[in-house]
Amino acid sequence: MGFFDFLTEEIAIDLGTANTLIIHNDKVVVDSPSIVARDRVTGKIIAVGKEASMMQGKTHENIKTIRPLKDGVIADFDASEQMINLFIKNIPALKKKLFNPALRMVVCIPSGITEVEMRAVKESCERVNGKEVYLIHEPMAAAIGIGIDIMQPKGNMIVDIGGGTTEIAVIALGGIVCDKSVKVAGDVFTNDIIYYMRTQHNLYVGERTAEKIKIQIGAATEDLDLPPEEMSVQGRDLLTGKPKQVQISFREIAKALDKSILRIEDSVMETLSQTPPELAADIYNTGIYLAGGGSMLRGLDKRLSQKTDLPVYIAEDPLRAVVRGTGIALKNLSKFKSILIK
Ligand SMILES: Nc1ncnc2c1ncn2[C@@H]1O[C@H](COP(=O)(O)OP(=O)(O)O)[C@@H](O)[C@H]1O
Ligand SMILES: [Mg+2]
Repeated sequence: MGFFDFLTEEIAIDLGTANTLIIHNDKVVVDSPSIVARDRVTGKIIAVGKEASMMQGKTHENIKTIRPLKDGVIADFDASEQMINLFIKNIPALKKKLFNPALRMVVCIPSGITEVEMRAVKESCERVNGKEVYLIHEPMAAAIGIGIDIMQPKGNMIVDIGGGTTEIAVIALGGIVCDKSVKVAGDVFTNDIIYYMRTQHNLYVGERTAEKIKIQIGAATEDLDLPPEEMSVQGRDLLTGKPKQVQISFREIAKALDKSILRIEDSVMETLSQTPPELAADIYNTGIYLAGGGSMLRGLDKRLSQKTDLPVYIAEDPLRAVVRGTGIALKNLSKFKSILIK
């Protein structure tokens, strides 16, 4: 403990491609879409998080909504730094302080990002008063958040299906033994739905509507134990140009998503086939853990289980498993030193 430690605040950040979450004093204080809205004329950020997300697809010429971390990479450095900055500044407990406290931070980054991008994230955090900044890889944070003892000489497989990427990793002895990152996750599912509606129903729907369909009736298989009811979907008729409504069933969505789910399945199978035998034996007993918002797609766990012949478990709160794990790493810096990237 340093002399100035009482002036230091600790925060854990899950910088996701779809959602950014921040833990401060053991509480989730930010849980917002990773979106900013920028004024094209002045270049200023006018909204961030939920507020910016409401503007999505409804902007006019002068406003542009940006997802700084689209597709699992940092697509816009400047916007991502401003987003981090605004999220941190808006934490109520920090807002009350007279002066900006120094921050000790652990930031979880998508494991697909490059060294250069990692450095950029770190520098962004330092510019927002991060005095001690550590990065942690997503599958590690997810595993810790799920409650797995990652330091054990025991293999565990984690599949984190986020917005931009699906991260598959086998973890043992505090390290990633083999992993794979595929750019098929929630955003691709949403685009599959947009494409399906356009080609099968001549209905043009926006991203927000497609995401709603995915959450309300989305499915990874037609063979569901508890199928959701049909849903009315509104959009623009591509032939007449008029607003139109159609009824959609989960079976249609399962068909629309089939190819993408297949790619995730294949990647899981590939990772399993690269797993050293002793760890494969462990995974035979422990099964596969799912995290990330995409893991909540109906029937995905069942489908993966049938494909791999392994038990598949969904994390208790899949959208928060990663930030929870990042928070635990923050509170136990010395224990997790070996897995944190300084
Ligand atoms: N109930 C649900 N069913 C299917 N997908 C969902 C559900 N809830 C959220 N999602 C999707 O999960 C994704 C976000 O997951 P998240 O783990 O926050 O991603 P990231 O870590 O990349 O920010 C989004 O694509 C969202 O549409
Ligand atoms: Mg994530």
